[in-house]
Amino acid sequence: MSDRVILVGFMGSGKSTVGALLAERLGWDFVDFDERIEREQGRSIREIFRDEGEPFFRSLEAELTERVKDRREIVLAPGGGWITQPDLVERLRGGSRMIWLRVSPDVAYRRCGERPGQTRPLLATDAPLETIRAMLAARRRLYEQADAWVDTDARTPREVADEIERLLREE
Ligand code: S3P
Repeated sequence: MSDRVILVGFMGSGKSTVGALLAERLGWDFVDFDERIEREQGRSIREIFRDEGEPFFRSLEAELTERVKDRREIVLAPGGGWITQPDLVERLRGGSRMIWLRVSPDVAYRRCGERPGQTRPLLATDAPLETIRAMLAARRRLYEQADAWVDTDARTPREVADEIERLLREE
């Protein structure tokens, strides 16, 4: 069984919730990238995007990737756009199981709340659902590189964690 899991997937796919549950069950550490970045920066993702712009945020993701790349017995949940930096994926993939938490645009939209742009700056558009559709279509090929795909639309975080745990133990 690999001793590192990377949960990838679009905003609203449940990476943070599922990752915490899975890590608890396995007795492993959990790093939620966005949460760690916010804590270290002392400001929200929205503020980081607003004050410094997206490239700066992506550089923080790169720096965090570097810091976790030698850790084992760990569940990692990078933000949904981490996958768009292929060199980061390469750095972390070796010895990891990369799992794609699949979500449809409608469900992602629902899970991101009434005003998705409040917490997800890339969804601060006039038509967030359309934005989700377009971004998901553009990224699908990247998420598809994962070793396993798990549907989340009609499942609770606990059920998703169950399936991932089963996949890991079957390995
Ligand atoms: C982003 C996803 C967000 C966060 C940032 C950018 C993206 O993370 O990193 O708003 O580019 O898809 P979640 O997937 O945890 O919402």
